[in-house]
Amino acid sequence: MLQGKKIVLGITGSIAAYKTAYLIRALIKKGAEVQIVITPAGKEFITPITLSALTSKPVISEFFSNRDGTWNSHVDLGLWADVMVIAPATASTIGKMANGVADNMLVTTYLSMKAPVFVAPAMDLDMFAHPATQKNLEILRSYGNHIIEPAEGELASHLVGKGRMEEPDKIVELLERFFAPSGLLAKKKVLITAGPTYEKIDPVRFIGNYSSGKMGFALAEACASCGAEVTLIAGPVSLSTHHPGIQRINVESAEEMYKASLKVFPEMDAAILCAAVADYRPSQRAMEKIKRETMETMTLQLVPNKDIAASLGAIKHPHQILAGFALETTDEQLHAAAKLKKKNLDFIVLNSLNDRGAGFGYDTNKITILTRHGESTVYPLKSKREVAYDIVTKLAEYL
Ligand code: C5P
Repeated sequence: MLQGKKIVLGITGSIAAYKTAYLIRALIKKGAEVQIVITPAGKEFITPITLSALTSKPVISEFFSNRDGTWNSHVDLGLWADVMVIAPATASTIGKMANGVADNMLVTTYLSMKAPVFVAPAMDLDMFAHPATQKNLEILRSYGNHIIEPAEGELASHLVGKGRMEEPDKIVELLERFFAPSGLLAKKKVLITAGPTYEKIDPVRFIGNYSSGKMGFALAEACASCGAEVTLIAGPVSLSTHHPGIQRINVESAEEMYKASLKVFPEMDAAILCAAVADYRPSQRAMEKIKRETMETMTLQLVPNKDIAASLGAIKHPHQILAGFALETTDEQLHAAAKLKKKNLDFIVLNSLNDRGAGFGYDTNKITILTRHGESTVYPLKSKREVAYDIVTKLAEYL
């Protein structure tokens, strides 16, 4: 989402300025171009050398760079940027922005800004709670600026309260969401299965797998950010959902996931089956804990679970789009293409366990999408969140 985006990052005089080093690094990693504009007080907290090394650009602070007649154009910056982020934003800068006090390069750039503006306040809890600050933030909101609410926690003063600048990765997430093509799946209903399934052996043991659910949850967030109404059927995972557009149904076993999926699928426009469903379950579930001393060796008899993807593939209407995942270790493309056909999918997302950083547990993934029309697209290694947007873009093409 942030690839090629031009970001003006305004830094002001707060102890949270050190966090901008992480923020810049994360933005650059996402492919963004970052231009720093810093207030004189900001330079007391983080040095321009650190900032220019991270951004590969000179840092702008004064109106006039040298005594040779050259000057920094705030108007040009206002036209250049796709977005301006002011992080950390002190009470003083927020006050100047609200009232148009253009006495430094940062506020002047803000007043010339044509792009959307995000403001991440950072200050002591009492300063943040003061009616003057709250009134100024309200004024910024009325200008259409996006306020990134500070978090609660320990502050530089060692007092505890609301005023900590939001963490860099959260700011990046917010920007990514902002640039996501929001109307792409407007009014579409999408079912997503995610996570592993647990197949009970007895009351305390189960057969499971290493699926973390991260890919499916990233997909649910991405679909919802693009305007879809998402039903997320999740196996046992320790992840939470944030978006109001996601309705979550928790299940444990493959059978429960199958029943829940079959129930909701008829009203869906699309389903993306991301779950690592157990292929087999114990033929019998012991009602009491199986005792070790009762047997020398133990044999578990397993019976196959129903294939949710194939079952939905068999009943799907032509207007419904069905996508699946394939995690392969050998002859990846061949096996994925066979599954695509067998399960009557429209496209299949292949990830290979041979690719470093791809598959279970990682925050990154490397995928290839194969379609029923025989097309194959290879994507580079990306965060699961970015991969989710690639999949959503493919889904939107089909819908
Ligand atoms: O056959 P395999 O398990 O490799 O196929 C993977 C795809 O099928 C994934 O999309 C997975 O969610 C789906 N699947 C399913 N129900 C099963 C097994 C797999 O929906 N019982």
